[in-house]
Amino acid sequence: MMVCVAVELGICFQTALCYSISPSMLCRYTTYCFNLKPACLSCSVFSMADKNSTLKCTFSAPGHSTTLLQGLASLRAQAQLLDVILTINNEVFQVHKVVLAACSDYFRAMFTGGMREASQDVIELKGVSAKGLKHIIDFAYSAEVTLDLDCIQDVLGAAVFLQMVPVVELCEEFLKSAMSVETCLNIGQMATTFSLASLKESVDAFTFRHFLQISEEEDFLHLPLERLVFFLQSNKLQSCSEIDLFRAAVRWLQYDPTRRASASQVLCHIRFPLMKSSELVDNVQTFDIMVEDVLCRQYLLEAFNYQILPFRQHEMQSPRTTIRSDVLSLITFGGTPYTDNDRTVSCKVFCLPDAGGRQFKELTEMEVGSSHSCVAVLDNFVYIVGGQHLQYRSGEGAVDICYRYDPHLNQWLRIQAMQESRIQFQLNVLHGMVYATGGRNRSGSLASVEKYCPKDNEWTYVCSLKRRTWGHAGATVGDKLYISGGYGISVEDKKALHCYDPAVDQWEFKTPMNEPRVLHAMVSANNRIYALGGRMDHVDRCFDVLAVEYYVPETDQWTTVSPMRAAKKKTKTCIPH
Ligand SMILES: *[C@@H]1O[C@H](CO)[C@@H](O)[C@H](O)[C@H]1NC(C)=O
Ligand SMILES: *[C@@H]1O[C@H](CO)[C@@H](O)[C@H](O)[C@H]1NC(C)=O
Repeated sequence: MMVCVAVELGICFQTALCYSISPSMLCRYTTYCFNLKPACLSCSVFSMADKNSTLKCTFSAPGHSTTLLQGLASLRAQAQLLDVILTINNEVFQVHKVVLAACSDYFRAMFTGGMREASQDVIELKGVSAKGLKHIIDFAYSAEVTLDLDCIQDVLGAAVFLQMVPVVELCEEFLKSAMSVETCLNIGQMATTFSLASLKESVDAFTFRHFLQISEEEDFLHLPLERLVFFLQSNKLQSCSEIDLFRAAVRWLQYDPTRRASASQVLCHIRFPLMKSSELVDNVQTFDIMVEDVLCRQYLLEAFNYQILPFRQHEMQSPRTTIRSDVLSLITFGGTPYTDNDRTVSCKVFCLPDAGGRQFKELTEMEVGSSHSCVAVLDNFVYIVGGQHLQYRSGEGAVDICYRYDPHLNQWLRIQAMQESRIQFQLNVLHGMVYATGGRNRSGSLASVEKYCPKDNEWTYVCSLKRRTWGHAGATVGDKLYISGGYGISVEDKKALHCYDPAVDQWEFKTPMNEPRVLHAMVSANNRIYALGGRMDHVDRCFDVLAVEYYVPETDQWTTVSPMRAAKKKTKTCIPH
């Protein structure tokens, strides 16, 4: 018995000739690779014993489609069997109906769909240019199209109109590769005209990356208002300073005097409050439009007010005060080396630019180094509060000093100090206020709670915790503040959950955690609060707490979930833009 098997291996086929020598089978394998020679694609099973059966094999000549196309092209070249004449204006194209109908849905419908044109010998085409049609016909007979920036608009127009999808795709490829500072706005125009979504995406991404260079080009001055606004309002213009964007917008406005009426529509997307004061004075208010146009004058005033009154910046937040960025960064402030005899603390601020990054880079420095400070983020401003400026083992070095870091202008502002010095306390944001709870100072642990009002730049006492505590954790959910665990007097204190309701200025105890925890972390997500990590001191030993549990305020219940693999001590990080 012999068997012929064909197995596809990429472009190679393997055949096996097998002899059945009972009880086993012996096979000889041969591999055939495709070149342009015909090759056996499939073989039917046959038997030498049965002489009446015949070997049946399908062969394929891969060059045939090329031969066919070349044959059609040569028929066209020698004007043989041509059966229709297409005219555009005064230009005439003689073609074979069957060729065009086979590759264009438009011509197929025209020649086979029972339209009047089906029986005409001469058809006048409208809606495409002669130059475009010439390229389309050449493509139909050759599978090739030669494109350049002069003809692309005509060819693309014809390909879209005549529904020649492969030509449309080749045009898109060409335009993507032709993208440059000089061409991209024009290409964007074509992408819009012919509804080419993927091309438009490439144009937009390119424009965001090179916006300022592009704005120097002649094409930029002809950009439609909506497109200019589309770019100016985007957070993706990340590498541009506001003053440069302002200059680009002014250049566009000044090109055509009638655009003056739309000045505020354009300039409302420039983030004036984020410019340097000197830029506002020297380079912005010197433009008459900024003073004469009522709305533009308001943007300028808004910027000045914003910069004069730093403590009121929270209530002045607007789309113009938002950083042009859509990435979250992880930032660390200060800290302390893990050596016993080194009491210095760091003043470095490091930043992990995006979630996927692995390398922290230095962002800036604090005025004074600190460690164990508490950090909170409000309206994308970072509050760095309390802690210590020299390393101590207890609460001895606690300070009341507070700073606010503004990532918009990369500026530090020293704000009012807390009423009390604190270290190992909690800092949380609730309803636009910053709350500092508990912690410890030189004399011992604290139960006092104070809240910071950014507008008044003032810390005021609110209702104290029911117990003194330090090394606790805190989080907000809904409109309440929750504080859990920390060092108290008993083990029960390390499980306690305090809840603060600002509406009535009162603390109450809620269901305690399952695990006693100190120096742990709490985070809120999806209306739950998770308690993670921390440690548990027991007589003269301490253990890492691996169990994770979450609290649901509505049901006042803790639920334990799967534990962490490795112990995590408390970390001091925050996430501004
Ligand atoms: C082969 O074909 C001949 C003539 O058609 C027939 O007489 C004969 O029986 C066939 N043999 C077998 C093994 O099928
Ligand atoms: C520590 O805090 C307590 C309670 O507020 C206060 O009475 C005491 O003076 C503070 N000690 C120091 C050294 O600041």
